[in-house]
Amino acid sequence: MKVGVLGSGDVGKSLARGFISRGHEVMVGTSDPPKLADFAREVNCQIGSFAETAAFGEMIALATRGRATPHIIEDAGKQKFSGKVVIDVTNPLVFGEGPPTLDPSGTDSGGEQNQRAIPDAKVVKAFNTVGAPLFVDPKLPGGPPTMFIAGDDADAKRAVADVCKAWGWEVADIGPIASARYLEAMCLAWVLYGFVSNDWSPHAFKMLKAT
Ligand SMILES: NC(=O)c1ccc[n+]([C@@H]2O[C@H](COP(=O)([O-])OP(=O)(O)OC[C@H]3O[C@@H](n4cnc5c(N)ncnc54)[C@H](OP(=O)(O)O)[C@@H]3O)[C@@H](O)[C@H]2O)c1
Repeated sequence: MKVGVLGSGDVGKSLARGFISRGHEVMVGTSDPPKLADFAREVNCQIGSFAETAAFGEMIALATRGRATPHIIEDAGKQKFSGKVVIDVTNPLVFGEGPPTLDPSGTDSGGEQNQRAIPDAKVVKAFNTVGAPLFVDPKLPGGPPTMFIAGDDADAKRAVADVCKAWGWEVADIGPIASARYLEAMCLAWVLYGFVSNDWSPHAFKMLKAT
């Protein structure tokens, strides 16, 4: 599969490594392609603009600054996302003094904003509740952690669940893209634990079941 990863930060790089490790062809999108030349050589991926990367991907991952993402989608060209599965890894974080907050939150979410920006695409929120170092082959003493996902399209969620499972995760589907409100809040639970405990060692959520 050809995968277009929009975003050049730790998240974009970790996703690119994950897809490449499972035999997929990857292009990473950025507004500044030269800065990724070393990374491209190291992992053997292509680099493009956000527009080129959206056009390249049969599956697309959004790994850009959360609140900038609807604008990045708009600038890349919405039609390039049409009909495709889009994994939304972003969180609409607001940075200031102290821990970040979310905007939007409560009655809307970044996931819903992104889906509204590309109504013909199948947006699935995933990977936003865990730090990038754990995305691929998470090895934790408590066993495989749980990837919580949300989206409106059942087939798209199956496709994203398959990616998560192939990378070593259990998957919990929590419903439509509107449930991104709660997944983005889960991200803050993850971040606030780090701030309060000053413990940024890799940590992830796991759903424990009685049966
Ligand atoms: N860090 C984590 O472990 C983690 C885990 C789960 C989810 N997330 C979410 O995943 C997304 C990516 O996170 P990240 O840590 O990799 O990096 P980031 O700094 O949040 O995002 C970097 C990417 O966003 C683009 N961007 C566009 N407008 C921007 C602006 N105004 N300021 C800064 N960057 C802008 C950058 O473009 P250029 O390529 O042109 O520089 C770059 O591709 C975020 O939404 C984050 O909340 C992060």
